[in-house]
Amino acid sequence: MLSDQIRKAFLDYFQEKEHKLIASSSLIPHGDPTLLLTAAGMVQFKPFFMGEASPPETRLTTCQKCFRTTDIESVGDVDHLTFFEMLGNFSVGDYFKEGAIEHAWQFVTKRLGLPEEKLWITIYFDDDEAFGYWRKIGVPNERISRHGEKDNYWGPAGDSGPCGPCSEIYYDFGKEVGCGKPDCIPGCDCDRFLEIWNLVFMQYDQDINGNRIPLPKPNIDTGMGLERMAAVMQDKLTFYDTDVFNHIIARVSELSGHSYGKDVKIDRAIRVVGEHSRSVAFLIGDGVLPTNEGRGYVLRRVLRRAALFGKTLGLEGSFISDIASVAMTKMGSVYPNLIENKDYILNLIDSEEEKFSQTLNTGLNLLDGIIEKVGAKEDKVISGKEVFKLYDTYGFPKELTAEVAADNGLSVDIGGFEKEMDKQRQRARQAQKSKEVTSGVDYTAFANTEFIGYDSLNCDAHILSIAADDRTQSSASKGERVSIVLDKTTFYAEKGGQVADTGVLIGKEGRVVIDDTRWAKTDHVVHYGKVSDGSVSVGHAVSAEVDVERRLHIARNHTATHLLQAALRDVLGTHVHQTGSLVDHDRLRFDFSHNAAVTNDELLMIQRHVNEKIRQNLEVTVEDNLQIEQAKAEGAMALFGEKYGETVRMLKVGDPAVSIELCGGTHLQRTGQIGILLITSESSVGAGIRRIEAVTGRGAEALVESRLAVVEALSQRMGAPLDE
Ligand code: SER
Repeated sequence: MLSDQIRKAFLDYFQEKEHKLIASSSLIPHGDPTLLLTAAGMVQFKPFFMGEASPPETRLTTCQKCFRTTDIESVGDVDHLTFFEMLGNFSVGDYFKEGAIEHAWQFVTKRLGLPEEKLWITIYFDDDEAFGYWRKIGVPNERISRHGEKDNYWGPAGDSGPCGPCSEIYYDFGKEVGCGKPDCIPGCDCDRFLEIWNLVFMQYDQDINGNRIPLPKPNIDTGMGLERMAAVMQDKLTFYDTDVFNHIIARVSELSGHSYGKDVKIDRAIRVVGEHSRSVAFLIGDGVLPTNEGRGYVLRRVLRRAALFGKTLGLEGSFISDIASVAMTKMGSVYPNLIENKDYILNLIDSEEEKFSQTLNTGLNLLDGIIEKVGAKEDKVISGKEVFKLYDTYGFPKELTAEVAADNGLSVDIGGFEKEMDKQRQRARQAQKSKEVTSGVDYTAFANTEFIGYDSLNCDAHILSIAADDRTQSSASKGERVSIVLDKTTFYAEKGGQVADTGVLIGKEGRVVIDDTRWAKTDHVVHYGKVSDGSVSVGHAVSAEVDVERRLHIARNHTATHLLQAALRDVLGTHVHQTGSLVDHDRLRFDFSHNAAVTNDELLMIQRHVNEKIRQNLEVTVEDNLQIEQAKAEGAMALFGEKYGETVRMLKVGDPAVSIELCGGTHLQRTGQIGILLITSESSVGAGIRRIEAVTGRGAEALVESRLAVVEALSQRMGAPLDE
């Protein structure tokens, strides 16, 4: 059976058994801040298991894209992958151990036709219940073994979440390929047994301290590795010899001129290049961009590791995209986004590869020198400073340096490296700090500030705290710079790219002109400003009045930013995602994923799209306290990597909506209030990230006025009519 047939057989079987087929979720676990990447089929179902959301059906089945970062350095051997597909059946409080065991057994023995005597079972050491069901189904005692927490307890994925004891099915490749020891059983280090299916009896929710509390209902989460099953079904010892990889391996061989299966070292490099090229295509296809942290760093690390191993094969130029392209063609019918975004994915791979290849040789020369020098030393440790320099100047991920070092019998001082990283962060913070207004005052004694500024622009409030130079005081008088906390406020504190409100606090005895507003970590809004008249005191009533004109300018730019994002996706494609934004009173800036300069024609088209929506004077509506799942179901755009609470604020423009975004900002009532949007610049701000700047309303009017004045002046100077 080919891999496509196995996938289909699995999903067909479980649909026949009344499981609802659910599409694979993204490799980016949206809305789950506990995870870097989706590493198991159950990730998208966590809220169901936890009882936080209701599933569409109690029986579900998927083929899920997965990525495991724990295995990156092991890729190259014959049994590790970073990217893989996991087939799974799930029961949300429906069937439990007996049902899961019966389904799995039926599928592997009847549907796939694997001989029963080739299948071995592991169970959690005290799980007599599971033992009983396996016996009942006909598995003899001697092929069932009991294991501890390390092998037969699964989860949580990430630092907290659902977990439970598990039971696995292993395939026996035969004594001949094993170690020959009489006590060789599943879990042995030798090649005899391959785990093909993991059945998790999900019963607990584990918190970050390791405490386990029972879930509302017991659930089933199973995972069958597609690539491994392909190896079994195609009678191969490793998935690299199956149809999943043979086109890819062949292409690496062809490009490098090395044949596969002749030399251990060459084979390893071929596998690394092949596997990693496939996995970077999937990461980028799901919206990951190369960066120096988080999942962007994982992408960078894997891509650069492929580049380095490719070099050892003598590969030149942009070979990763070539190989990725083979993988994408193979997988495109199952994951059409790979085909839809093919150019984007390949371009991004090329530009990242090119960037690294520019420094790769210099970096490698440097590393060779270091290895020679350190090799002669007693401790054989490459210093943190050197690892940092390779990282910072030459783009060598620290793990890559460590791997090359280990190949040469050396180690690296990772602690020292982290210290250097900290110093660099410190320098960056220092540079940033001069711009920041901070308050070192502790506000925990006060209730969180009530923000009522979505609906009103002024309100009556009371002063809870006044501080100057981070020290609290009972009052402040004319000329003093202070930070003030009120019980409630209409001032929007800087957040989500939208700048802070300014305005004035007016009391009976004095007034404070507010020029900045920030959130303190404790959920208090801190107003920064200067006492302009008289004095203000703690306990006094004030009227908190936001500068209305400025707030409206900001709202124009914010609502326009949403229209801009929608237009970008219409014109350039749905690979466009926001990576950053600034919403100021006099301009807006929007950063987004896109791998080529936006042409003038495209810019014009985008601008026209936005202005058309402005002229349609669409209504802007807000739904607050919405369940995140519901918002997503309505198609709301969320920020990659952003942590959202369970309930969110959803902003829609138009009905039917032309834009739906999760957003905490302040907006207009109707798009017509924007007036007009004019794009002022387009530029690159990093690999695969573009920036558009624009003006709206009064800012746009000013731009038109000044441009027209230039044309008038030219016309006069040249003595030519305007039209000419
Ligand atoms: N969550 C389990 C695993 O990843 C079963 O799917 O192995």
